[in-house]
Formats: sequence, structure tokens, C-alpha cells
Amino acid sequence: MQSTDTPPEIVTQSPRLVNLAGLLDAWQADAQAAHDARAAGTLRGPITGLPKLDSDLGGCLAPGMSILHGTPGVGKTAFALQLATSCGFPALYVTCEMAPLELFRRVTARTTGTFLGRLKTGELLPEASLALARQAVEAAPLLAFADATQAYASPEWIRDKALAVKGKHPHLLLVVDSVHSWAEGAPGGAPEYDALNEHLAALRKLAAGLRCPVLAIAERNRASMDKGGLSAGAGTRKLEYGAEAVIDLARKEDAREDAMGEVPVTCRLAKNRHGAVGKTVPLSWHGALQRFTEA
Ligand SMILES: Nc1ncnc2c1ncn2[C@@H]1O[C@H](COP(=O)(O)OP(=O)(O)O)[C@@H](O)[C@H]1O
Ligand SMILES: [Mg+2]
Repeated sequence: MQSTDTPPEIVTQSPRLVNLAGLLDAWQADAQAAHDARAAGTLRGPITGLPKLDSDLGGCLAPGMSILHGTPGVGKTAFALQLATSCGFPALYVTCEMAPLELFRRVTARTTGTFLGRLKTGELLPEASLALARQAVEAAPLLAFADATQAYASPEWIRDKALAVKGKHPHLLLVVDSVHSWAEGAPGGAPEYDALNEHLAALRKLAAGLRCPVLAIAERNRASMDKGGLSAGAGTRKLEYGAEAVIDLARKEDAREDAMGEVPVTCRLAKNRHGAVGKTVPLSWHGALQRFTEA
């Protein structure tokens, strides 16, 4: 994996021999950037927008690949979508499962406080519905979707679009929902294990080349469906091995909505290269508003 101390223009295919003294320039640049950001109160990278989680992650999402997993329906897509709109920088959301219009409705539900169901029943006049959508556009001006639901998006295509979305901004968040669907859609019909490993390697390379965090949603394997944990990703151990962080979303089977429509969901850092491992952040999930808040 490419370290973060080399400028992107010298991301190469060759290994590099370096001693500690040879890293001092990179150290100086990093120390300066950290100090300047602290003094100015600016972000050093995309955040989750959930303060405790951000703090546990070391302040922001680290450049490199992070994995988000959880049982089907726990809210992985909603969580990643919320991060993509709240990260403070441009975000490219590569969707391989849900159509962009449905994701747009989810963003609209959360950012306008409108129950998601109301955006679909036809109960709103089209002008009123569109006004809500426009409000969401204003609330999330830096979010773009890469629609890979109908056609495969190659890593090169994603890289080009990510650069376009990043523009002149200093940081970018790339989300892939999900890495399993993405790999499955690749031409060539490689076995699942090979396709997944190849696409995980591609994600790590994208993260290194773009110097950005990549949040990859992963399916769980059957054995870990209920218990989650570090090795819960389906198909290959490289999901966890190559990751900066593994975020595990869990909801108790008997959890019910409270009077406010909120359900407890636990966010656990099953792996964390930038802070303590095993920390849990209690969240509240509001399905109708597609919203996670810290409990
Ligand atoms: N109109 C709605 N009102 C309330 N909850 C909804 C509505 N539509 C979807 N949901 C809930 O949102 C959740 C969708 O989660 P999602 O992010 O798609 O999960 P995952 O990606 O983990 O499979 C589900 O638990 C579902 O019950
Ligand atoms: Mg999903």
C-alpha cells in the first residue's frame, strides 16, 4: 500500500528504500499541515459528521480503504450516504445496487426532515416534491453519484470521475456500495474470490493514487451474520487485512422504534489503524428520515 508521505505524482509501481532521515521533509510537511489545520480549525480530511466516531477514527477518515459491514437492512447504504453528504468535501458515491434517484430520495428525506415514504406515495404535489429535492441539492452540493447499477464501472473510469468530482478541493471521499456487487459485475466472470481480491486491490490503489479515503461497503459471510466482528466480511480475508478501519454496524434483533421513531444501532470499530480498536459508538437510527445520530 502506498504510504501517505509521498506526493501523488510519485506514486509508482516500484518499491522505495528510505531511512528515517529521508522522511524528514515529508514529516515537516505533515506537521505543518496538521498544525495549520488545527490553528485554522479546518478539517484534515473527510469526516463522518458523528463527533465521537470521528474522534475514535483519529479526527477524520484516513486515506486508504475502510470497510463498512453489517447485516442486510441495518442501514449500511444510509450510513455511507449520510457520510458522503456530511464529510465536508466532495464525495463520489459509486452505487452498484440502488438507483441514484432512490438515493436522492434518501438524501432528501434526511436533509429536509421529510419522511421517505411521503416522497414516494404521490401524496405531494409534484412542485412541492421538487422543491424538497432542490433543498437537498443545496444541502449536498458536493455529492455525485456514479451509477454502476446498469453497467460496470472500471477502476480507471472511477478514478477519472473521482478526479473530476474532487476538482480543486483538497480532499475527496469515495464510497463503493458495495464492493461485492461491484466485483460481481466485472466482465470476465472470474470466481468470486479472485474478483473480490482484484477489486479490493483496485480500491487500495485508487485510494493511494487519489490520496483519499475509500469507504467500501461489504457483505457479511453467513457464519458472522449475527455476530459481526473483524473477520465478518464475506469472500476474502483481504477485506479486513487491507483496511484502515473496519466499521461494524449492528442492531439488536429485538430492537424496536421508540416514540420518536429511533432505534438503537451500535457502531463498532472492529479494526482501527488510527485509534483504539473495539470501541463502540452508540447511534440512533431513524428509518423514515434515513438519519443516524449519536445516541
Ligand atoms: N420509507 C421508509 N420508512 C422507514 N424506514 C425505511 C423506509 N424505507 C427504508 N427504510 C429502512 O431503511 C433501512 C434501509 O437500510 P439500508 O441502508 O438500505 O440497509 P443496508 O444497506 O444495510 O442493507 C431498512 O432497515 C428499512 O427498513
Ligand atoms: Mg445497502
